Amino acid sequence: MALMLIFEKILRFMKYEQINSELFKKNRAKFMAQMKPKSIAIFNSNDIYPISADSTMPFQQHRDILYLSGVDQEESILLLFPDAIDKKNREILFVRETNEHIAIWEGAKLDKEQATAVSGIQSVHWLTDFDKVFFGLMTEAECVYFNTNEHYRQSVETQTREDRFIIKCKKDFPAHSWAKSNPILQQIRGVKEAEEIKLIQHACNITEKGFRRVLKFLKPGIWEYELEAEFLHEFIRNRSKGFAYTPIIASGNNANVLHYIENNNQCKDGDLILMDVGAEYANYSSDMTRTIPVNGKFSKRQRQVYEAVLRVKNEATAMLVPGTLWAEYHIEVGKVMTSELLSLGLLDKADVQNENKDWPAYKKYFMHGTSHHMGLDTHDYGALKTPMKPNMVFTVEPGIYIPDEKMGIRLEDDVVIMEEGSPFNLMRDIPIEIDEIVDLMNK
Ligand code: GLY
Ligand code: MN
Ligand code: MN
Repeated sequence: MALMLIFEKILRFMKYEQINSELFKKNRAKFMAQMKPKSIAIFNSNDIYPISADSTMPFQQHRDILYLSGVDQEESILLLFPDAIDKKNREILFVRETNEHIAIWEGAKLDKEQATAVSGIQSVHWLTDFDKVFFGLMTEAECVYFNTNEHYRQSVETQTREDRFIIKCKKDFPAHSWAKSNPILQQIRGVKEAEEIKLIQHACNITEKGFRRVLKFLKPGIWEYELEAEFLHEFIRNRSKGFAYTPIIASGNNANVLHYIENNNQCKDGDLILMDVGAEYANYSSDMTRTIPVNGKFSKRQRQVYEAVLRVKNEATAMLVPGTLWAEYHIEVGKVMTSELLSLGLLDKADVQNENKDWPAYKKYFMHGTSHHMGLDTHDYGALKTPMKPNMVFTVEPGIYIPDEKMGIRLEDDVVIMEEGSPFNLMRDIPIEIDEIVDLMNK
């Protein structure tokens, strides 16, 4: 009962329903099982990034501390020390001290009881105690795990709280050794727990609602930003914070600009519109792309190219099974795409015979990757050099981009790798077949 009351209080903090702390306990156990003896690992929240004057960007929690604790609040630190002499020091959470003043101006922050309910961590301190507690534990430890960002697509210029912590820690404790958290996180975050797959499914279901709303709304003359607004309306009313990533709503030739995010053009009769849009839910992403005709009817050529992309997507999906190697998978998908481009008359045999193996001919029309891990981050952590495993979640997103024909078509679903057989499609209910899309648009 007491726990129920605490959960009710916590519900007021976030739009999403509280996640059971068992998930975070399992996540921490997986991380700690891979730590070296006598080591401490530290995970920091993100900063709240300034705009100017007193304006700030909305807070986005660092996905690692979230994954390991569930704490969705700024200025929090998680400390893991599996070999701590005193058991209560094996997992410690530090949160910003809350008070009446903060409650009135910003809204209540987690108190110690609530922080325990969210995370399953019994030892909770105010952040102001961190230096003292950390110093005491460092006298028992030999090594510190730093949480650097080694994501294959990362490109960060800002100094994060993690970066500042690393600089200070190296200065204060020069006789300790250092280790990296990221390789462990890449590996464990890449394989999802059942609870996480449910949350991703939930995000996909919200995306579906947005797409169905847009299918009814779209007609010639509508502006791309009006479609963006329709998606956002549906997302927020379903307890999502909004887009999992900046949406691409690209009509006509805009679809050939891969990262088109202006969404500021008018949709014209006869054009296709590519929409790469996903809702977030409880910080989990969904990542969907659908390409549909502005006027509700596909021309013969649009249909031909669309069917080709859909076939590539279906064939690629079937390759996502345990044991598949990501790099080899991309080579195989490239072969399927090459054959479709030959059939469409976009490539000829000579193009393929003379192709550069490092940049095959198909890349002229399909220049991005087919799949990435998806989860707490849209381009999620996950092993890419070792064989695929069950419960990894990948996107499948082939496209054919033909600026000369004023069209770009991409189709993207999110799928879970199964123990056996084809992957499970988390977007199975989001219309993708031409007949269904045309039907829904013309109702
Ligand atoms: N929306 C980003 C991607 O598809 O990878
Ligand atoms: Mn996408
Ligand atoms: Mn994607």
